[in-house]
Amino acid sequence: MPTLPHPEAFVRWFRQAAPYVHAFRGRSFVIGFGGEVVAERTRFVRFLHDLNLLAALGIRLVLVHGARPQIEAELRAKRQRSRYAKGLRVTDANSLLAVKHAAGVLRVEIEALLSQGLPNSPMAGAQIRVASGNYIAAKPVGVVDGVDFQFTGTVRKVDAVAIARRLEAGEVVLIPHIGYSPTGEVFNLAWEDVAESAARALKADKLLLVVDELPAGRKGQVLSELTAREADELLRKDGLAAPTRRAIAHALAAVRSGVGRAHLVARRAEGATLLELFTHSGAGTMITADPVEKLRPARLEDVGGILALIEPLEADGTLVKRGRERLEQEIANFEVIEHDGSILACAALYPFREAGSAELACLAVAPELRDSGYGERLLLACEARARQARIRRMFALTTRAQHWFIAQGFREADPAVLPEERRTLYNWKRGSKVFLKRL
Ligand SMILES: CC(C)(COP(=O)(O)OP(=O)(O)OC[C@H]1O[C@@H](n2cnc3c(N)ncnc32)[C@H](O)[C@@H]1OP(=O)(O)O)[C@@H](O)C(=O)NCCC(=O)NCCS
Repeated sequence: MPTLPHPEAFVRWFRQAAPYVHAFRGRSFVIGFGGEVVAERTRFVRFLHDLNLLAALGIRLVLVHGARPQIEAELRAKRQRSRYAKGLRVTDANSLLAVKHAAGVLRVEIEALLSQGLPNSPMAGAQIRVASGNYIAAKPVGVVDGVDFQFTGTVRKVDAVAIARRLEAGEVVLIPHIGYSPTGEVFNLAWEDVAESAARALKADKLLLVVDELPAGRKGQVLSELTAREADELLRKDGLAAPTRRAIAHALAAVRSGVGRAHLVARRAEGATLLELFTHSGAGTMITADPVEKLRPARLEDVGGILALIEPLEADGTLVKRGRERLEQEIANFEVIEHDGSILACAALYPFREAGSAELACLAVAPELRDSGYGERLLLACEARARQARIRRMFALTTRAQHWFIAQGFREADPAVLPEERRTLYNWKRGSKVFLKRL
């Protein structure tokens, strides 16, 4: 039997993937790809094997495909020309025939590949059932700036109930870039539009779009994470390839209307889908909705919320008592994490400029939200504040959270390290431990 070249690495990797395997079971992913993905046979077969693995892990899969190069090829063979306007094909009656042919052929090919099951292949025992159907209702794009798009359409409605039923039955749903109108007409759609609309209608956990080029930063590095706001800003700038721009716009619209996350993965990168989904650093670009919880400097109107958070901690001696009045005076020192107007966590930074240090104080996270990283986020915000003020040392006094500070890079110090002013206020009876961190 051949041995693995790096068995330890394999085991480590497999274990690292475990949390994702748990998290993804039963989730719905919509995966969209253009016809160019299908055109490169070897790569496409591997891509489908990866999708098969996702299905085997209990992920509910909806696949949406396009057929641009296939339609082009058919029109070329018939010596007919493709016409585009605003990045969309103008689908006349001839093109529509090519669209139908391409969609039919691709459906059969994809279904055939998903039906493989030879022993000694990654598809052994897979037995994937594929459902395809008239899930997409379409409407014509119409006439835009004098251009009649004819049989080019956009998604009008997705039959999410029918799709969900197929997924419930354990089938993979395959949706082409084609939609039907109530008048019985056929429309050619952009696959990105179909994928986004399906993800939205299903309230999918993820929308994955396969692209040729991932968005890159100024130094050419792949932008691995974008919030909706950052994606929006990127779309306002020049420099994105048109298909990447289109994919980002659809991904953005999806996350803004409730799809958990959108990911762009590179078509030519081997195993990019698995890397993006099962590794922390990913291999593509993840687009997330703007965080609903906001970390921001506190304002006077937050005083009530902060008091509600810290009073129980003051009562049990975890925090030193601060009255409303003192809080109001010192509000500029506070950072808070807010969600929909309620204060979930707070921390304060008191600079001692002459001593070149600052105290991190009044750090509190709502009990039901502890151990979710809120404390750490506030610490980072206070560190950033301190650095901005050219402060290089941060200290904290605590009676209950010693180990939390140690885990955050503080070390215990003698009360003598406190700035003079603060030392005179030090309450020896309280016996707080002093923790110090260099920034
Ligand atoms: C201390 C506190 C601010 C930490 O915030 P948090 O958002 O819960 O913590 P984070 O999510 O950033 O960090 C979680 C980690 O810290 C550990 N931790 C949390 N509170 C701890 C404590 N009091 N002592 C030791 N470790 C603690 C958790 O076990 C977890 O460890 P893990 O990552 O190994 O699982 C929060 O527990 C709190 O509000 N406590 C009451 C107020 C208090 O003690 N404030 C500090 C005095 S200034």
